[in-house]
Amino acid sequence: MKKIYIFDTTLRDGEQSPGVNLNTQEKVEIALQLEKLGVDRIEAGFPAASPGDLAAVNAVARAVKNASVIGLARSREKDIEAVSEALKGAQDPCLHLFLATSPIHRQYKLRMDKQQVLETAEAAIRYARKFFDKVEFSPEDAGRTELDFLCEVTEMAVRAGATVVNIPDTVGYMTPSEFGNIFKTLRENVKGIEKIQLSAHCHDDLGMATANALAAIENGAEQIEGTINGIGERAGNTSIEEVAMALETRQSYYGAKTSLVLSEIYRTSRLVSKLTGMVVPGNKAIVGANAFAHESGIHQDGMLKEKTTYEIISPETIGLKESKLVMGKHSGRHAFREKLLDLGYDLNEEQVNEAFAKFKDLADKKKNVLDEDIRALIEEKLITTPEVFSLNTIQVAYGNHSVPTATVRIDTIDGKVLEEVALGNGSVDAIYKAIDKATSEEVELEDYKIKSVSQGRDALGEVHVILAQDGISVQGRGVSTDILEASAKAYIDAINRLIDKRKDPGSARRDKMSLI
Ligand code: KIV
Ligand code: ZN
Repeated sequence: MKKIYIFDTTLRDGEQSPGVNLNTQEKVEIALQLEKLGVDRIEAGFPAASPGDLAAVNAVARAVKNASVIGLARSREKDIEAVSEALKGAQDPCLHLFLATSPIHRQYKLRMDKQQVLETAEAAIRYARKFFDKVEFSPEDAGRTELDFLCEVTEMAVRAGATVVNIPDTVGYMTPSEFGNIFKTLRENVKGIEKIQLSAHCHDDLGMATANALAAIENGAEQIEGTINGIGERAGNTSIEEVAMALETRQSYYGAKTSLVLSEIYRTSRLVSKLTGMVVPGNKAIVGANAFAHESGIHQDGMLKEKTTYEIISPETIGLKESKLVMGKHSGRHAFREKLLDLGYDLNEEQVNEAFAKFKDLADKKKNVLDEDIRALIEEKLITTPEVFSLNTIQVAYGNHSVPTATVRIDTIDGKVLEEVALGNGSVDAIYKAIDKATSEEVELEDYKIKSVSQGRDALGEVHVILAQDGISVQGRGVSTDILEASAKAYIDAINRLIDKRKDPGSARRDKMSLI
């Protein structure tokens, strides 16, 4: 069985998704979960983008022990030096260099001819090898690059000392047979190709990222780059869980396997969704809420008779198991702890106590506390940004023929209680205006999403917001049985993150990714 290396770029290309802005702690948390998932390589960020990015890559490099940690660099000495600085302390550091090679990029973006592209990339790879034993080179927009020039670029990269050559379909333009043919052609024509690993990096603009990655494997790719839940620039990247499960489920067809711990897929997907604020669509392959739901009577009947009639993957394979313990207000601390372990949360004493108090609170309002509710409670507090502000109380007066009025009381980190009243176009607007006044923060609400965590009238509501201020955007989340309280908590959470983010002057000026 051929081994396929998994290069995860959730923290770099994934973080380029609109509205996603992870802080250092969140990046480390995701990286540690990726390590548990068993990915081989973790691209932690783009250190030259800002001092904040450099520090975050360094924190990941120091935390991760069982995967190679990678930093991205343009083909410039300064970028390479920034990655070298950021990867200090990494067990297995690697540099990812890129330079565009397609005619469109050469003419309009780089204003370089083919010779200049070859010379610039070669000089960068040789310079990079002074700092790193492992250097991956990506000819950006390889999909739209002339095939003979791509062979020339790849041969140059091998000669200059690259250890991996990655073929990006940067704009998601390729079809599976075209993309597969690139790998076949490189394998057959490039001198020294056996000395390096070939890698595929696909985008999903035409919905073909996973199909293209699999076609690359069939034609000689040994590494697949992608993200959890397929998040990423524009329509996103290849979804790692889809590739891993396709190889697992169709082993006899592909004859290839990843080293992923498949039972960690579901937990990883949830963590990435929570921390990025990017909700996984219900019909998303492998990790969507409906991926294992059987609605039609005929399908249900088939499932009851023999699961394999309609199920090609069992939910347990990806770590999605419904636990048998039903929790309610009479459940004790011991049962709660068992439930947490059952759901895969190995918390310390203090965290269990905090979670148990929240569970008891919820059990007073909700008869049966479902697994989904417990996951939401735990995940709400997964990463604690310093709470400069926290919600004490809210009170809202609403009538469909009167102006909604909200009163909020907010506790501050230094022991003050701030109280403000505001009118608004609706209840949430009134609450947000009152919070703005109380915290004296001027922010713009860029996005507001609400969803119910489980079914029923007493279900928990989960709110995600994105706030922006002076070019920084952050997300916040809040959970409560009351959607107005969840809305207030999400907004205050985002304000706390904004304050935290402001402490990093680099991140304020960071123009997400100017890959020129
Ligand atoms: O899509 C792309 O071309 C990239 C490169 C930086 C590899 O993300
Ligand atoms: Zn990309």
